[in-house]
Amino acid sequence: MDKQKPVNDWTTDFDIFDPEYNLDPGPIWRDMRERCPIAHSERWGGAWMATKYDDIQALVRKVPELSNRQPTVFPMEEGKDILADYFADLLPPLTKDPPEHSPLRRLLLPFFSMKAVEAHRPYTEQLCHELIDGFIENGACDAAADYAQQISPRVIGHLLGVDLGRREEFVGWVQGLVELGASNFELRSKSYRAVRDFLGEQIAKQRADPGDNYISRLLASEIDGEPVPDIVILNMCMLILVAGVDTTWSTIGSSLWHFASHPKDRQRLVAEPELLSSAVEEMLRLHAPASAGRVAMKDMDHDGHRIKRGERMILSFPAANRDPAVFECPDEADIGREKNRHVAFGVGIHRCAGSNLARLEMEVALGVWFARIPEFELSDPDAVTWSAGQVRGARTVPVTF
Ligand code: HEM
Repeated sequence: MDKQKPVNDWTTDFDIFDPEYNLDPGPIWRDMRERCPIAHSERWGGAWMATKYDDIQALVRKVPELSNRQPTVFPMEEGKDILADYFADLLPPLTKDPPEHSPLRRLLLPFFSMKAVEAHRPYTEQLCHELIDGFIENGACDAAADYAQQISPRVIGHLLGVDLGRREEFVGWVQGLVELGASNFELRSKSYRAVRDFLGEQIAKQRADPGDNYISRLLASEIDGEPVPDIVILNMCMLILVAGVDTTWSTIGSSLWHFASHPKDRQRLVAEPELLSSAVEEMLRLHAPASAGRVAMKDMDHDGHRIKRGERMILSFPAANRDPAVFECPDEADIGREKNRHVAFGVGIHRCAGSNLARLEMEVALGVWFARIPEFELSDPDAVTWSAGQVRGARTVPVTF
């Protein structure tokens, strides 16, 4: 796998693990969109990448021929046929295609209705205040590591009903499964085993002593009159960790980076706090964290390209969010943007099931931060770091206030 060679031409040789990619992707996506909106690269086992809004809207509808059984850009496991049904079982319902997808998705939707997620607001607010209490006297912190990254693992742990005493380990596992493990099979398998063992214990605990939480309620649920097997419940919990933790901390971290480095936007949000929800939407658009993966189950054509059976496709929702055909001044933030039909949460049958919770976490995280720390700036812009790969987010954001 040729991962270190610098990229000369992003339309023929893109590499989403290139350290430059997540740092400032706007010019790269513009170039790809203008010269080759469905690009191909041989790196990481080979993949196509779609960068235009309309292409992405069309491609998500090609189900099940573009299957979700390979949602990661780097193959999920080494040495297996990537079309194998085995992969479809790993993270349901994300990895399931129709017709298996809907009944599994229906099981988890009630946990993420607007009303259901409101129940997590008091916990999230208290958590954000406690985190800020921990560093406010210092006049400085790492807004990504000390704040953003501390929020979603605990909210998700709270939702699942798992032992929050081990939340520090969550962060490492999720990074091993999703971010750092994305280009390292060994780390990914080690993290997978750790999470699987932990969730197995938690499921046994909830079975013995049920509570009012995600695991207990799934244990009591049925599909077509049959109880849901424990392995499916475990994999559905794994998905919540994979899908709900680093996406959200990434967007909160990127948003705080944005406001720390764009004083006019920060001052505007301080002066017009009623813009908070539209600011959240604009941060989701401009700093969308997640690109999705698909694999072609048969040869297919799209816009003059022949996509062969077994070839992988990256749907860059973040690139679509900067398509000038849909958004005015797409690389700039307008926290009062009125027409903002972004696709940060994806589109089609796999559209994010947890978007209400993600929005609530972002709104609370930014709302509490701005109420207590309205004035802040980057203390060392050169020390800022970004993730590499499929989930884009600021990882080190040193600020003073
Ligand atoms: C800012 C935060 C988030 C972003 C940007 C985001 C983005 C996405 C995207 C783009 C997809 C579609 C993937 C595809 O088409 O293959 C997705 C699916 C999903 N997300 Fe999120 N997500 C976020 C937070 C969450 C949270 C907090 C949860 C739950 C706790 C969650 C649960 C899910 C689930 C279960 C799916 C699979 C839905 C299905 O296949 O039917 N996400 N998310």
